[in-house]
Amino acid sequence: MFQKEIMIGGIRLRSNVLMAPLAGYTCFPFRLMVERLGAGSAYTEMVSADALKYNDRATSKLLFTDEREKLKCVQLLGSNPAFFERAVKSEALEKFDIIDINMGCPVPNVVKAGEGCALMDDIPRASRIIEACARSGKTVSVKCRIGMNRHKIVIEEFARMCEASGAAMITVHGRTRDMMYDGEPLYEYIRLAKKSVRIPVFANGGIDSKEKAAETMKKTGADGIMLARYGFENPLIFAELTNTECNETKYSLITEQLDIAQECFTELDALTYIKKLASYFLKKLPGTKQYKPGLYKCGNIPELRALLTDIFGGAC
Ligand SMILES: Cc1cc2nc3c(=O)[nH]c(=O)nc-3n(C[C@H](O)[C@H](O)[C@H](O)COP(=O)(O)O)c2cc1C
Repeated sequence: MFQKEIMIGGIRLRSNVLMAPLAGYTCFPFRLMVERLGAGSAYTEMVSADALKYNDRATSKLLFTDEREKLKCVQLLGSNPAFFERAVKSEALEKFDIIDINMGCPVPNVVKAGEGCALMDDIPRASRIIEACARSGKTVSVKCRIGMNRHKIVIEEFARMCEASGAAMITVHGRTRDMMYDGEPLYEYIRLAKKSVRIPVFANGGIDSKEKAAETMKKTGADGIMLARYGFENPLIFAELTNTECNETKYSLITEQLDIAQECFTELDALTYIKKLASYFLKKLPGTKQYKPGLYKCGNIPELRALLTDIFGGAC
């Protein structure tokens, strides 16, 4: 069901199990890891299309990648088609193969600015944004929800618009904006999106096990799935779903992540990232609560390395 290669525009993805953008989490080392474990693609966290013009340190950090990342995918956030057009043609995005447009973020400040999920309420503008990105000749994808709320479910019209405007793929998070990140996704609307277009449709939302991944495929008829929080909690799921050979453990993964983070981040950024990864890895492991205070307090890399061996070195 999941080892399937799939074409997105002119780009071949090695599997139909993708890693979602997660602001604050899907940094370069993480994306490298899931690519190796079998993910078909992994996106940067959302980057402001407008902010790209400032060429500032914060944005360059989000865009950091190198030749080790085989398929480079960036996600942009914004509301002005002209800013998207300039961003996609900019030098900063030259190295990226796929441009994803965020049309699903539900956060109040984002929606108030007419960005993210607000674009599902302004279909003509959403269309102009996709067209502006597609004019660059790059492969463009869209990540959206099913609508703003249960009374305003627009996914059928929205999916058709995405295809007509030049998107090569759509990922549908099967929740409405007002559901934020909780509650059972409304799978029938992902199915409706799939039936409405010929481009690949990926299902996202609430996949937190191997069984749920299969169930989501069955309920939606989608071409593949996009994992989000669970992909961060258990990256080994990518290898499991895609039958990728893997002798890794959470311990080997996290120590390798620390090596890469140390090489490309400041010490503070490396500490912050590895602490987040460790606490996600610990999420459903019984009897690990005791480690949390030490993890948060830990102030340098050698201390963190020793702690990771304590926590993960034995069992997992
Ligand atoms: C902390 C956090 C950060 C997120 N950042 C982004 C983002 O940058 N871009 C985006 O399109 N979605 C973002 N999302 C949404 C996820 O990609 C995904 O659509 C959502 O979490 C539903 O999937 P899940 O239930 O499997 O986690 C974020 C979600 C969370 C919880």
